[in-house]
Amino acid sequence: MRTQVGIVGAGPAGLMLSHLLHLRGVESVVIDVQTRDAIEQTIKAGILEQGTVDLMRQTGVGDRMMRDGFVHHGINLAFRGGMHRINLTELSGGRSVMVYAQHEVLKDLIAKRVADGGDVRFGVTDTKVDDFLTEQPKISFTHEGNQESLECDFVIGADGSRTMCRFLIPQPEVRTDFFRQYPFAWFGILAEAPPSSDELIYAHSDRGFVLVSTRSPSVQRLYFQCDPETDTDTWSDDRIWSEFEARLSPAGAHITPGSIFRKDVLQFRSFVCEPMQYGRLYLAGDSAHTVPPTGAKGLNLAMADVHVLDRALGAYYQSKDTGLLESYTQTALRRVWRAQWFSFWMTSMLHRFSDASDFDLRRQVAELELVTSSPTAAKTLADNYTGLPLG
Ligand code: PHB
Repeated sequence: MRTQVGIVGAGPAGLMLSHLLHLRGVESVVIDVQTRDAIEQTIKAGILEQGTVDLMRQTGVGDRMMRDGFVHHGINLAFRGGMHRINLTELSGGRSVMVYAQHEVLKDLIAKRVADGGDVRFGVTDTKVDDFLTEQPKISFTHEGNQESLECDFVIGADGSRTMCRFLIPQPEVRTDFFRQYPFAWFGILAEAPPSSDELIYAHSDRGFVLVSTRSPSVQRLYFQCDPETDTDTWSDDRIWSEFEARLSPAGAHITPGSIFRKDVLQFRSFVCEPMQYGRLYLAGDSAHTVPPTGAKGLNLAMADVHVLDRALGAYYQSKDTGLLESYTQTALRRVWRAQWFSFWMTSMLHRFSDASDFDLRRQVAELELVTSSPTAAKTLADNYTGLPLG
């Protein structure tokens, strides 16, 4: 088999890149170890930046999102002393975010690739990438019992945080990993309940962080900061609802309990690998970087990476111009590090660190008071939350 661009990973980065390349007449094949069902049902985050929303709409994959998603023009910061709204749209000059779950984005992208005759292979095994230091890299894999060999011009490693592609870049000779671990995680639940708030609530409390998010008018997504070793089975529904109440009530916020149908623990990490390219292998999305979920940036960074890659590959196929491909790492990393800073800032302002003293808690409250009372500080939050323009 031969294609122009071989893509390892059918997540947001891989599928969106395949879609964008198709629109400019560049062929690709996407492979993934997971089944289509598993990909379409894995629960992840759900906030799309303005740039992601625009990209989906402009390229014909935004219909369901526009129908079923919810545009949010603000978020709330809650802490001792009350709830304060950050007017994202007014502060950012007209931008907003969309609440629409990542697995719904993936369903839309897969359906579109299939409708456009795209080649997406699910449930592959034994994936190997070779010859990426030549002009003819190769991906081999097994699909439906057949051994396949795919010759390409470029290979894209969009295979998520459990990537194998990243490890093809030799360390320490070429690759440097930048890494930060956090001493906490998020306990997430999905519950059949009416919304507790029209907009998301990011809450600081002496007992730790809470995020009140939503999925639909009848399903709510809620998180509270927990120990990374937490076993979800040791938390009864009653205990979970009382923990939310204990953390939110000092700020005057309350949630409406309901029936919990899913509990999970999300690990927290900040990670970046540099460079994001080696020979004809290009990394995109979580294979190259992970952010803690506090800034809601993971999916959006993946989309931003492939927006850059699409234009770079477009220039190459149109006029053999390799300039944008050569500057891919530098262009992508500027946004990645900005998102790392923002996610770290939101995380450290809102979470309780295990060694936090009363001094630290009061310092955090002072910072939250600054962000909610100074238009300049609030604008910094709003600009970064809604996302820098793509390109
Ligand atoms: C979510 O709804 O899953 C969500 C929302 C905002 C975040 C993180 C996760 O910052």
